[in-house]
Amino acid sequence: MTKVISLINLKGGVGKTTTTVQLAECLVSEFGQKVLVIDLDPQTNATVALIGEEKWEHLDRQGQTIFHLFEDKLEHKHTFNLEKAIQRNASNLEGMEDLHLLSSSIRLIDIQDRISDVAQKTNYALAPYEVIKLCLKDVLLDYDYVLIDCPPNLGTITRNGIEISDYFLIPTIPDSLSTYGIPQIIKTIHQFSQDRNIKICCLGLVITKYISISTAHQRGKQTLEPRFKEIFRALNLPLAPVFRTIIPQANATAEAVNFHDSSHTTFKKKYGNSQSGGQYLYQYVMKLTEELMEYAGQ
Ligand SMILES: Nc1ncnc2c1ncn2[C@@H]1O[C@H](COP(=O)(O)OP(=O)(O)OP(=O)(O)O)[C@@H](O)[C@H]1O
Ligand SMILES: [Mg+2]
Repeated sequence: MTKVISLINLKGGVGKTTTTVQLAECLVSEFGQKVLVIDLDPQTNATVALIGEEKWEHLDRQGQTIFHLFEDKLEHKHTFNLEKAIQRNASNLEGMEDLHLLSSSIRLIDIQDRISDVAQKTNYALAPYEVIKLCLKDVLLDYDYVLIDCPPNLGTITRNGIEISDYFLIPTIPDSLSTYGIPQIIKTIHQFSQDRNIKICCLGLVITKYISISTAHQRGKQTLEPRFKEIFRALNLPLAPVFRTIIPQANATAEAVNFHDSSHTTFKKKYGNSQSGGQYLYQYVMKLTEELMEYAGQ
C-alpha cells in the first residue's frame, strides 16, 4: 500500500527539503522502494537537488510543473500532462529509475494567492485543496512511498499536499524558534482533516541539524519529547514518536545536495564524505529511513 508523507514545518531552513531528498534516495537505492517526490515549494530546492537546474528550466518552459497544474485549472488551459511532467530517474546517483519527481516552479509564487479562485472557476466542482488529488489519485498507487516537500507555511498549496497524505512528518532543529510553531501545525492539520473529512496522522518529529556541543540543543532535545506528548494529549490524538535517529549538523549535508558533483555515483559515496559524531551521514539517513518504514507500517 502506498504511503504518502508530507514533510512540514512552519519554520524555514529546518531541513524539510534535505530530509525529503535523503529519504527518497535512501528508500530507492538502499531499500528497493519505488518513490515519487512532489515538490510543492516555489523555492524549487528539492527539484533542483534531484534533477538539476537545466532540466528544471526545460520542464518549466514545456509547462510541466506543479505551477502549470494549478494554472490549467485557473485559466481553463490543458498544458500540464502528468505523463510528461513526472521525471523518472530523478537523482544523480546511478540506477535510480524508481525515483520519480513532480517538479515545482518559482512561478507558484505568482498564483498561490489565486488558488482559492479554483472553486469559482470550476463552478464549485472542485475545492482549491483538491487540485493535486484530482490529477494524481490514480498514479499515487504506483508507488511505495510518496514524499511531499512543503513550503514553510500551511497555505493552500501545502493543504493540497495534506489532502492526499496519510502522514505528516515534522523535521525540526531542537531550538525554541524552530519548535515554537509545532503545536499550531498539529492543531491546524487536525482541524483541516476534520473539516475535509480526510484521514491523516502525524508520523513523528525528526530532530535535524543537531549540534551536540550546544547546550541549547541539548536542552531542546531533552524537553522536546514531553512537550510533543503533551500536544497530542491536549488534543486527544494518538501519540506520535520523536524519531530515535537524530541528524547532526554537518557541512557534508549541504555539499551532498549539489546535483553537479559527479563523484556522487552511489548513496554511500554521496553521503559518506566525512564523519559526524563518529558516523557517516549515510548511516544516519539509513537509520532514519528504517524508522520511517517502521512507523509507516511497512
Ligand atoms: N544536517 C544538516 N547539517 C548541515 N546543514 C544542513 C543540514 N540539513 C540541512 N542543511 C542546510 O540547511 C539549509 C536549510 O535546509 P533545507 O533547505 O533542507 O531546509 P528547509 O526546511 O527545506 O528550508 P525551507 O523552509 O526554506 O524550504 C540548507 O542550506 C541545507 O543545505
Ligand atoms: Mg525546503
